[in-house]
Amino acid sequence: MRHYFGGLHRGVERGLSTWGSQLKFYPAIKQLTLDLAADAFLGLPWGLEAQKINRAFVDMVQASVTVIRKPIVGTPMWRGMRGRKFLCEFFQQEIPNRRGGNGEDFFSQFCNARDDNGNYLSDQEVIDHMNFLMMAAHDTLTSSLTSAVYFLAANPHWLSWAMEEVDANAEISYDNLNDFLRLEMVFKEAMRLNPPVPVIPRRALKDFEFGGYAIPAGAMVSINTMLTHRLPELWDEPEAFNPERFSAENSRDRHRYTYVPYGGGAHMCLGLHFAYMQAKVFLHALLKARRPELKTGYEPDWARFPIPRPRDQLPLILQKR
Ligand code: HEM
Repeated sequence: MRHYFGGLHRGVERGLSTWGSQLKFYPAIKQLTLDLAADAFLGLPWGLEAQKINRAFVDMVQASVTVIRKPIVGTPMWRGMRGRKFLCEFFQQEIPNRRGGNGEDFFSQFCNARDDNGNYLSDQEVIDHMNFLMMAAHDTLTSSLTSAVYFLAANPHWLSWAMEEVDANAEISYDNLNDFLRLEMVFKEAMRLNPPVPVIPRRALKDFEFGGYAIPAGAMVSINTMLTHRLPELWDEPEAFNPERFSAENSRDRHRYTYVPYGGGAHMCLGLHFAYMQAKVFLHALLKARRPELKTGYEPDWARFPIPRPRDQLPLILQKR
């Protein structure tokens, strides 16, 4: 984690230095999280190769949610399959170069991981882990950071409250991450209202009853995170953005499945500490240098599924501080 912190910090500073005073936030943060992933996950420097991989990856993710499932030339499915082929070939040819090396990126770590018998993961297992990991990590962070910045810009009181914390701790390091309680509360509250994974699919292992309905073993059951996070019997004023819900005191008696942006149980998100770290590094760098604002009269228009994103790409004013 310490190693990844350094890469995230340098990458965020470099990315933000290129942002103007007005921009469409969603594509900008998407590009930034892709560039950060190329460093932390693949161990690649910024450049043409990383860009090609990012393009292939974006195409692959788009294909996973496209309606037309046949790879007809020119369709998202076709581009996605082409992207997946490119990625698989890239990983395949790089695996021998990473084995035996001491790279700290995720890819190198997978290449050098051994099972209880001392064997490496097969090439296909490494490739599958990498494709899954990049999908799990990238769009979720893009979506949650977009929501966090939107809610801050839309709520100047909470924006000033978060900025106070940044101003009191001008430098962020791996060792003082726990000092950024307000940034963490902002991020959590943004994910309460806009959970990046709005529905979590499961399958019933045995017959059970829920809310008067008999659910047979084997049935698909989806947990609706977005609905859970807005139930009035669980949350006061559920539609209001209020990061202080997540203060230690206010969280104390909350049932752990009231708030489930990272899922729960055996398959709960493995990357949540990485996500908090990236969110804090990003929000710290942004709020230290800029004040995000919305244009007067701005009306948000969120697409909620499959991952929350602003349909208008979230035009934002970034005032220099
Ligand atoms: C705000 C960011 C993120 C959110 C909201 C999120 C959310 C989730 C959710 C809902 C699941 C499914 C949990 C379940 O089925 O119960 C999951 C699984 C997973 N996530 Fe994340 N995730 C985020 C970031 C990341 C990052 C940054 C990484 C890697 C560095 C990551 C790696 C994984 C992995 C490996 C799994 C599969 C765990 C398993 O099946 O055992 N996630 N995530």
